[in-house]
Amino acid sequence: YYEVHNIVVPHIGPVPIAKGDFHKLPQKVQKFIAKWVDICAPRALYICDGSKAESDEIIHKLVERGVLTELKKYENCFLCRTDPADVARVEAKTWISTEEKYDTVPHVREGVKGILGQWISPPEMEKEMNDRYPGCMKGRTMFVIPFSMGPIGGPISKIGIQLTDSNYVLLCMNIMTRVSPKVWETLGDGDFVKCIHSVGCPRPVTRKVVNHWPCNPERIMIAHRPTEREIMSYGSGYGGNSLLGKKCFALRIASVIARDEGWLAEHIIASVIARDEEMKDGSVIDRDEGCRTYVVLRIASVIVRDEGWLAEHMLIMGLKNDKTGEEKFICAAFPSACGKTNLAMLQPSVPGYTVRVVGDDIAWLKFDKEGTLRAINPEAGFFGVAPGTNFKTNPNAMKTFQKNSIFTNVAETADGGFYWEGMEDEVDKNMMITTWLNKKWQIGAPGKAAHPNSRFTAPASQCPNIHPDWEKPEGVPISAIIFGGRRPTGVPLVFETFSWQHGVSVGACVKSEATAAAEFKGKMIMHDPMAMRPFMGYNFGNYLKHWLDLEAKPHKVPKIFHVNWFRVDEEGEFLWPGFGDNIRVLDWVLRRCAGEEGIAEKTPVGYIPKKESFNLTNLGDLKWDELFSIPKYYWLDDIRESKRFLEDQVGTDVPQVIWDELDEQEKRLREL
Ligand code: GDP
Ligand code: PGA
Ligand code: MN
Ligand code: MN
Repeated sequence: YYEVHNIVVPHIGPVPIAKGDFHKLPQKVQKFIAKWVDICAPRALYICDGSKAESDEIIHKLVERGVLTELKKYENCFLCRTDPADVARVEAKTWISTEEKYDTVPHVREGVKGILGQWISPPEMEKEMNDRYPGCMKGRTMFVIPFSMGPIGGPISKIGIQLTDSNYVLLCMNIMTRVSPKVWETLGDGDFVKCIHSVGCPRPVTRKVVNHWPCNPERIMIAHRPTEREIMSYGSGYGGNSLLGKKCFALRIASVIARDEGWLAEHIIASVIARDEEMKDGSVIDRDEGCRTYVVLRIASVIVRDEGWLAEHMLIMGLKNDKTGEEKFICAAFPSACGKTNLAMLQPSVPGYTVRVVGDDIAWLKFDKEGTLRAINPEAGFFGVAPGTNFKTNPNAMKTFQKNSIFTNVAETADGGFYWEGMEDEVDKNMMITTWLNKKWQIGAPGKAAHPNSRFTAPASQCPNIHPDWEKPEGVPISAIIFGGRRPTGVPLVFETFSWQHGVSVGACVKSEATAAAEFKGKMIMHDPMAMRPFMGYNFGNYLKHWLDLEAKPHKVPKIFHVNWFRVDEEGEFLWPGFGDNIRVLDWVLRRCAGEEGIAEKTPVGYIPKKESFNLTNLGDLKWDELFSIPKYYWLDDIRESKRFLEDQVGTDVPQVIWDELDEQEKRLREL
């Protein structure tokens, strides 16, 4: 059903509306759209409703154009091959703009390049935007996507509106977020996160389009204005850069909102009094009268509101003890491509627990009135790493994406199936395969079939072990937080930190081998504090303070642990089988949370399991001592290096408590 009329904007004149009723949208939204239509000059405007019919229509077009290939083996599944120059997030091209530089980045040591966020001044940003956006959608349709992060209307949920000229992005947003006309009703005249995305390829195209995938890799810029709650992403169609609800909104912008909402009432009142408030209809209200009303409202909401929350790169999962029936939820933060999705969907290798997934990548965490930490998954789908996924390692993921899913940069079998590294035992050895680069290939041939950062995009509701409460608006109660990374040497399978403060210092020192999720080549060990390095929305020192402050309130803070599934022996073989066997580690974690004594041994870095207390049934030979050893000099070097990192990268912004924790840890190690 089409309503063909126009919107008229000052510079471009009339632009036809291909779908939707523009004039019924909230005023603020109309203003926002009109502004960007005027800048980007699309050929038409298309207001999305998130319906199945809408996705079907777009898919049909994309198949016709060769952008998508139907994977006939499954139901409503499609393969997309991108331009090989656009396959991952690009940290070097991700920017945050605030008036004050140190709101965004810490005081980095002179001569050192900061890696915890990149700041750009508002005028410079303005210039970069002016170099990119005017006319950038010429000849393309601008899609308007109303979406909710979190259940629509939920107390922790937030609304965003994304403008994009990519129909692939629209399809994926329909899976990854809640796109619905209900968003307009819930929004009313309220504020929303403004998301603008363009592949940066206006028509007629001057750049050669590869694989029917328009993009502009040389000019990629992923920019954020946290104060304005605005995201502008240019040049890339790759998920992490283009599905703006995910990393840009749910992590970078949301972490700023989470911090801001924790500010004291005085803070908010002061900032309100400092400026005239514009009314919703655009008129300026009497300053004193307006401020009085506003202040009363603000105070009221501050009183009912808890003080601040967290937007984190974390999975959320529930573990129900089959004997007692008691269920506990945990969150875990690992850097990209380090095992979140697999852990969240874990299929236990030993009996004892029913494991169910709430979220696999992002958690919004907030203390409730009783002081319990609760988490929601703001997303509605999984954007998971394909390679390594198979019916042995992650059967739940495999079952999730048998229908209604999109696969990006995986390979295709001659019988219309997907294929990637890790599926060798699940596909006929003689099967003809077409790689992600469109080359004929067979199992055993040199090279890789799928890109190492190839991804599946699938609705969370299709996951066989999705938790019945996964959309509970107020979230699930969290008993433990786990940090981790890929650490081939030195770091034990699991340890429990001594306190919240110690746990935060351990989180601040998280390191991991680089993966294909971003632009880094090779396997160097990189710092990725709290697994948030690529996603920091504000000064990392202030972020650490925010974490530490959460304990001072009447909050019941969960225990903090660290895990490492990736330690190897001299031959380079993993010391731990991982995947379904990770339940054994979680079992120990939960028993510690329940206060079970006699199952832990104190070491300088934290508590590790006592062997006899750990479930080792049917594990075969395990090099326990190697798996749990804490080499003194390795750790002393490591802590020196971490201190150096914090001095260089966070400088005077590091809270003193973190230095104290690291000093204590160093002292304990020296005494070893
Ligand atoms: P995410 O990006 O953090 O969600 O990580 P994924 O769960 O998608 O896993 C990334 C890669 O690590 C995949 O190739 C997995 O097969 C692999 N992986 C995940 N969990 C484990 C584990 O416990 N052990 C080992 N050895 N590999 C794992
Ligand atoms: P991941 O999500 O953490 O599952 O890899 C995507 C990303 O972080 O880029
Ligand atoms: Mn992620
Ligand atoms: Mn994942």
